[in-house]
Amino acid sequence: MKLHAVLEALGQTDIHLIDQFMKGRFEHARSVLDAGAGRGRNLRLFAGMRRVAVDPDAERLGDLPSDVERHVGRVQDFDWAPEFDVVISCAVLHFAASEAEFEAMLRACWSAVAPGGVLFVRTAAVGGDFTVGDGVVPWCLAEADFAAWTERLGAEWVEPLRTSVVAGGRSMATWVLRKPGGAIFAP
Ligand SMILES: C[S@@+](CC[C@H](N)C(=O)[O-])C[C@H]1O[C@@H](n2cnc3c(N)ncnc32)[C@H](O)[C@@H]1O
Repeated sequence: MKLHAVLEALGQTDIHLIDQFMKGRFEHARSVLDAGAGRGRNLRLFAGMRRVAVDPDAERLGDLPSDVERHVGRVQDFDWAPEFDVVISCAVLHFAASEAEFEAMLRACWSAVAPGGVLFVRTAAVGGDFTVGDGVVPWCLAEADFAAWTERLGAEWVEPLRTSVVAGGRSMATWVLRKPGGAIFAP
């Protein structure tokens, strides 16, 4: 495949999500929920399976391909059945204004994961220095917080937490969890 075709296929997909594809994590997936999809860049590589997007910003969801099911609202405003093989929360949880809101968002995402399915999260980690939105300080988690939430959810680690730090800028963690039971996910 020519380089331009590879780039065309990948689009603006988050590089850390691409990493999960390269590790074969989504080989058996048939459905995906993007919780805070924005313009849906991370749904691109899931073409061909059931794709659902939720976001309070209706205008952003308007850019999505026609086969994508759309729900306008916050992820925590819906009652999700545990029916998605993959749930994505990419650069969304750090918009929480409080721990209660963070928990509501995280638990809503987790409730949508099918047994054996995967929750892929990118969110701010302690150690960075940046703002999100209009000067909003991000809701940041320390390594111990990620571990505590993983245990509270009853989740399994798919791989160790990875955090990338931009010097003088953001610190973002990639947190990949599996829901026990089922056999969707290829370890
Ligand atoms: C930085 S953008 C990331 C969009 C997309 N995930 C991506 O990686 O390109 C954050 C998105 O989260 C959405 N958002 C904020 N709070 C949310 C919530 N509680 N539930 C769902 N989406 C939310 C915003 O409207 C925005 O589209």
